Amino acid sequence: MKASTLAFRSAVCLGLTGMTGGIVMAASHNHTLAPAHAHLNLLGWASLFLIGLFYRGNAALDASRIATAQVGAWVLGTIVLIAGVTGIYAGYPQLEPAAGIGSIIVVGAMLLFAYLVFRPERASIAPSLGMAPAE
Ligand code: HEM
Repeated sequence: MKASTLAFRSAVCLGLTGMTGGIVMAASHNHTLAPAHAHLNLLGWASLFLIGLFYRGNAALDASRIATAQVGAWVLGTIVLIAGVTGIYAGYPQLEPAAGIGSIIVVGAMLLFAYLVFRPERASIAPSLGMAPAE
């Protein structure tokens, strides 16, 4: 699957989850989990969709395994982080390590994204083309 497709599909799923949480908070007048809701929407919906747009604009990178792995790491880190933040605010402090582990995974995914963004464009296109032009 292309990196951008994985990013867009994951972002929609995470965004729907975050928005549903927002509606539940609003309806119940219980905003205890607002920090988890905010992180889920900002990391899982807004940031991930922007990452997908970047890959969609770079066709060769979009088809590369490293970009797909970067999106996968971002999604995994976001889910683990949200589990931890939810635990902390819901009264399960034993889940706090998940927030730390998830945040480290997300920062790692951000560092990989930074590498792909700063990498010279020719170097990012060459390895994943794998095709010779038609005669
Ligand atoms: C159906 C859509 C959404 C609903 C119903 C909703 C609902 C809420 C509610 C009830 C709160 C708590 C407000 C408070 O305690 O003062 C909140 C906070 C927040 N929401 Fe949403 N929200 C939605 C979508 C989004 C999206 C898409 C984003 C970001 C991309 C977002 C970012 C935030 C932030 C940053 C906060 C503040 C968190 C905090 O103070 O700790 N929300 N939202």
